[in-house]
Amino acid sequence: MKKILITGGAGFIGSHVVRHFVNKYPGYQIYNLDKLTYAGNLENLTDVDQKPNYHFIKADIEDAELIMDLFQREQFDGVIHLAAESHVDRSITNPLQFIHTNVLGTVHLLHAAKTIWHGHYEGKKFYQISTDEVYGALGDTGLFSETTPYNPHSPYSAAKASADHFVRAYHDTYGMPTVISNCSNNYGPNQFPEKLIPLFINNIKHNKPLPVYGQGLNVRDWLYVEDHVEAIDLIFHQAQPGSTYNIGGNNEWRNIDLIKKLIEIMDRKLGRPAGTSLSLITYVTDRAGHDLRYAIDASKIREELGWEPKVRFDEGFEKTVDWYLHNEEWFNHVTSGEYEEYYQKMYGNR
Ligand code: NAD
Ligand code: TYD
Repeated sequence: MKKILITGGAGFIGSHVVRHFVNKYPGYQIYNLDKLTYAGNLENLTDVDQKPNYHFIKADIEDAELIMDLFQREQFDGVIHLAAESHVDRSITNPLQFIHTNVLGTVHLLHAAKTIWHGHYEGKKFYQISTDEVYGALGDTGLFSETTPYNPHSPYSAAKASADHFVRAYHDTYGMPTVISNCSNNYGPNQFPEKLIPLFINNIKHNKPLPVYGQGLNVRDWLYVEDHVEAIDLIFHQAQPGSTYNIGGNNEWRNIDLIKKLIEIMDRKLGRPAGTSLSLITYVTDRAGHDLRYAIDASKIREELGWEPKVRFDEGFEKTVDWYLHNEEWFNHVTSGEYEEYYQKMYGNR
């Protein structure tokens, strides 16, 4: 019997991780700890929240005392840490919140795990979910590998990089069995509509302008969220303590090309003549410090753990668009704050 703490399980990637672990490992007890910020939504988990091996804890990873008490009480075997402030644009306007959540929150979790595990590390693991953005920006060529030096540019990536350094420090200093993975941009259902793909789906649907930063020439490497989850499962169970893995889709797109592809799919699905929504493209002032290109060399995880993305981009992108078009209620709730009412209904003031 394993007890696993998953932080940030009500968010985009976290909800897919929770669903996967609850369904695939009925013998594990899964504890989803989430503060339910604007990005956390329990409606992402309605299909698993009644399962006997699922438990929800509304809590803030910044609350060191609560975190320590929880580790003491539950004696977790493993931690998969996803809770974070995750949006670059928000980090530019409010960097301090990113230091609080992403750096201090991570250190509180590390400290509680170290204190409660107390050197008895057999069968234990602390897994930090990180991002390729810690490596900084690439030019037109080259790929990020696990040995690329950290060179973050945004307050978001600087905070994630700092947290990763603390995770490594807990391994190197205290022998804690930590692992880190750095993944490229995820896409799929349940992503909060401030990120490029769900935001633009919503805007195309409602004939609203599509704010393309700069000239739309920045490049991202897109991975379907469930492929990320498969990688997380493998790394959690098989990675050696102290190791790092890069995860990527081998699927680079210039923003403007991705947006045109999205428009093509949306116009078809909405029954609009091809190209109608191209007129919504609006070039706006570039994001400050906007990284030109991210691209991942995922050969280590392929060679050591046998992982490869399974979902072809054409298929995953179409499936993603369908999901948002068929889940209008979800969209309306996350943009209107109605999911807070859902929380009250489900969990009262807990
Ligand atoms: P998200 O913003 O959708 O979800 C974050 C979750 O963390 C939310 O449920 C939120 O309520 C919770 N949270 C925030 N602050 C908290 C706090 N103080 N205490 C407890 N819970 C808190 O983010 P996401 O896109 O799902 O990303 C999850 C993780 O994966 C992050 O660590 C992010 O850095 C990393 N990551 C994301 C991507 C991506 O493309 N989205 C790519 C690589 C890595
Ligand atoms: P985003 O989804 O915010 O992910 P990240 O910045 O973590 O890669 O943005 C993806 C790309 O799309 C990035 O290059 C910024 C760009 N972008 C826009 O051009 N307009 C927008 O409104 C948003 C949200 C992003």
